[in-house]
Amino acid sequence: MNIPSGRARYRPVIAALAAAVLAGAGAVAVGKAPALAAETTLRAAAAKAGLFFGVAASPGRLSSIVSQEFGQLTPENDMKPDTIATSSGGLRNTGNADTLVNYAQTNNMLVRGHTLVWHSQAGQLQGASQATLNTFIGNALTRWGSRIAYWDVVNEALDDNNNGRRRTQWPHSLSRDANGDGDYFDAGDTDVIRDSFRRAKEVVRQNNLNTKLCINDYDVEGLTVSGGARNNKAQALYDIVRAYTQGTERLIDCVGFQAHFNDNPNSVITADLQANIQRFADLGVEVHITELDIDDDLSNNDIGQGQANNYRKVVRACLNVARCTGITVWGIADSESWRSSERGLLFTGGSGNYQKKAAYSAVLDELNQGRSGGNPSSPPVSASVSPSASSSPSTPTDPSPCSATVSLNSWSGGFVATVRVTAGSSAINGWRVTAGLPTGAAVTNHWSAERTGTSGTAQFANVGYNGRIAVGQSTEFGFQGTGAATGTTLTCTAT
Ligand code: XIL
Repeated sequence: MNIPSGRARYRPVIAALAAAVLAGAGAVAVGKAPALAAETTLRAAAAKAGLFFGVAASPGRLSSIVSQEFGQLTPENDMKPDTIATSSGGLRNTGNADTLVNYAQTNNMLVRGHTLVWHSQAGQLQGASQATLNTFIGNALTRWGSRIAYWDVVNEALDDNNNGRRRTQWPHSLSRDANGDGDYFDAGDTDVIRDSFRRAKEVVRQNNLNTKLCINDYDVEGLTVSGGARNNKAQALYDIVRAYTQGTERLIDCVGFQAHFNDNPNSVITADLQANIQRFADLGVEVHITELDIDDDLSNNDIGQGQANNYRKVVRACLNVARCTGITVWGIADSESWRSSERGLLFTGGSGNYQKKAAYSAVLDELNQGRSGGNPSSPPVSASVSPSASSSPSTPTDPSPCSATVSLNSWSGGFVATVRVTAGSSAINGWRVTAGLPTGAAVTNHWSAERTGTSGTAQFANVGYNGRIAVGQSTEFGFQGTGAATGTTLTCTAT
């Protein structure tokens, strides 16, 4: 599970990353990391932990630090429709994008294409039909092919102010709810998200590309927002990703949390960041932190240690979830940032002459701790509240076929439960977990399992892809609900 950090040929990078992701697909890593010498660049430390650490840049910013410190590159502006799209969905002006892709390839870095469908910086595509968007999607995807590991197919689909709705600005106004039932998931509906991903998937399949297709948004990072209320925007994104990954079509491969943390109450770093990453990961998609910058004001004007600690929390939350496979900062130095007054990045200085901030050292240190390193000084983001329970009396000679433990994230009036199912001394081909819920708790949502019952006793059984568990291995499913779930009991049976 090693992402090359030095100079090697490009194709093996994708293969190695895919292997890293597959290796992490079963469950979150547990246990102590072996004591290894600390790496001295973000890129190498991340690669050792099995994820990429990247940066957004434009051709004018490609100093040597980029390939030294970063293993992934996102064009900050040079692949947006206002730069590269014609009004009929053709391509133009791709020189800067080519420069960035070539640089990444030469330096063995992954590329994230950013972005195909977006209400902002739409340029000549502003107001285009879905057919024209589809033409553009096809042209852009085939222009760079598998040289682009991840593409943001749809960016910022959701509305602001925590209202949990889709944006109404174009292109989201292309959404048409044919039967007026309030969703966009029925056969007759036109939905720019679904239809853009359908077209992108079709192009990927037809051209046999390795490119993974992502949906990207901001203020979706926490399960909750400042003050503890539910993050409705995150919930809407979750519902969309679930609808388009758990059905007959698997349209979405990855979810990006932009993570522009600032003073907006919906944009704070909450303690449930990891739980939110986990529930998306449990849908089987990769999760990325795609545009990270952290306003120093979030730390009471402490440009030093406070901001560094905030960076640490975000990196740790990602490291603790196996399918969180990459973190990208939105620029190199504060002075060159789109939000320069908030001094949210890892370096000071500029024009290739950069100095590392405390935040840089914190990120490097946290990456060096690895997936299971867990810095004791950073608060845990989820608490285990219920001991494991098993279906049959557990004796040393007759061990239980499986066990289940729950990790609970709660807020006033609601909770998310992540349940880990572990096989005993024999492999199992299927499992059922019976959850005894406290009075007042009701399940509203679940993932990676079939469910019967919502309150009192609820049963969760494996779905097609997670029934088989090898000896001592585990898988996870989750559910969300209203009320309080502290005291939930679990019983696991092999089926
Ligand atoms: C920003 C760039 O950083 C700026 O240079 C540009 O002027 C505006 O766009 N969300 C996104 C990014 O998805 O594309 C935006 O990038 C920042 C917010």
